[in-house]
Amino acid sequence: MPMDRSGFVVAANRLPVRWHEEADDWEFSPGGLVSALRPVLNERSGTWVGWTGRPDHALEPFVHDGIGQRSVPLTKNEIVGHYRGFCNSTVWPLYHNAIRTPEYHRHWWRPHVAVNRRFADTIAAALADDGTAWVHDYQLQLVPDFLRARRPGARIGFFLHIPFPPVELFGYMPWRRPVLRELLGADVVAFQTRRGVANFSECCVRYVGARPVQDGLEYDGRLVRLQCAPISIDSEGFERLARSPEVRDEAAALRERLGPHRKIFLGVDRLDYTKGIAVRLKAIETFFRRHEGAAEECAILQIAVPTREKVSDYAAMREEVEQLVGQINGEFGTTGHTPVTYLYRTLAPEDLVACYRAADVMMVTPLCDGMNLVAKEYVATRFDDTGVLILSEFAGAAHELADALLVNPLDADWMADRVRDAFDLPVTEGIERMAALRERVLAHDVFRWSAGCLDAIEAATQPA
Ligand code: F6P
Repeated sequence: MPMDRSGFVVAANRLPVRWHEEADDWEFSPGGLVSALRPVLNERSGTWVGWTGRPDHALEPFVHDGIGQRSVPLTKNEIVGHYRGFCNSTVWPLYHNAIRTPEYHRHWWRPHVAVNRRFADTIAAALADDGTAWVHDYQLQLVPDFLRARRPGARIGFFLHIPFPPVELFGYMPWRRPVLRELLGADVVAFQTRRGVANFSECCVRYVGARPVQDGLEYDGRLVRLQCAPISIDSEGFERLARSPEVRDEAAALRERLGPHRKIFLGVDRLDYTKGIAVRLKAIETFFRRHEGAAEECAILQIAVPTREKVSDYAAMREEVEQLVGQINGEFGTTGHTPVTYLYRTLAPEDLVACYRAADVMMVTPLCDGMNLVAKEYVATRFDDTGVLILSEFAGAAHELADALLVNPLDADWMADRVRDAFDLPVTEGIERMAALRERVLAHDVFRWSAGCLDAIEAATQPA
């Protein structure tokens, strides 16, 4: 169906809808960004531009539930070079403090540029001359300036969901200057943390000669506002689901299966090397070794969500995690109790929330993470102020959730001590901590986040 150009376009690597075979229709994917932007897109008759996730999949523009959808097709070679290569083997590790060695290949950079240009073309085709475009994440970091060339009268915002690295690391990128120049095509570039803002600003000053001004940078005769805007979740939505009778029943049944007398420790992560799953399992192993009988008193539930399986570092990590699970269960299990239950799959939202409700302790221990919404989701579901959150200092969420039990996940002793602290935490201290965490997560939800970002983009003014 042909669509008019819209005053509001969102662009992200993936479309917000997926094909549902049984229903023979599209459905919205679960996820914070989609639920936050749906009302705004509906209200403004907006369009979402993204990739379907399949090779050579070109769709005619269509409308789903009042929201325009325009797909950007990627060839098989572009999936290899742009998505798996430049996005997930160059930028992803580099921006996550190079915790895996980034690879730099010109034959990955070229498809990255080509795909970003195609996104800019598709956004421009959907966007009114004076419309607002909001571009998301590192896969589309070149889009802002490509789009400005096509729609000079538009307002353009960019939000980076992952960390932006310090200048010493970013400087390794052979394409550091074009990346910064294209990003600076936006009116507002927003980051999860103040650290991200400061790192980006320093890189722009050093490598492309931008001039720091109040709240941003001056570059090429334009003002680019830099914003710190920590993303959040639909906090009330999570709490509502947690209170539902189905989820309560499922959580009770899960506790029963894992052993009602046991302390339940939970980890929920995409199976990504940034998430610190192996160091977490090792800390649990150390805790079991140091405290006789502890393995019998604990049930560990680790949910690993499959992701980027064709990227070699991810496949290697899966092997490492599964080997550790086997090792712990082999050493500490009995015929009556397997300490670690490991699930490699994506859970439906109700099942995920039942896990949050069943867990006494949530372990979120990334080595580096833009935000980590799992930490906020756990907090939102603890409507009775119970539950303990162990949280890495290196998650963006730690800037807001200082009442968690914070830890450096690479400090093996501290990690094992944190597991013990969580195990023994006095009830009143746990309640005080969780109440403080909840206050923050309920007040700063994803709707407030998106409104704050959009206000900044639409307030953007340029010198006459
Ligand atoms: O910001 C992290 C991110 O890239 C998101 O954009 C995405 O939802 C998630 O990781 C999963 O990644 P992928 O789309 O590569 O499966």
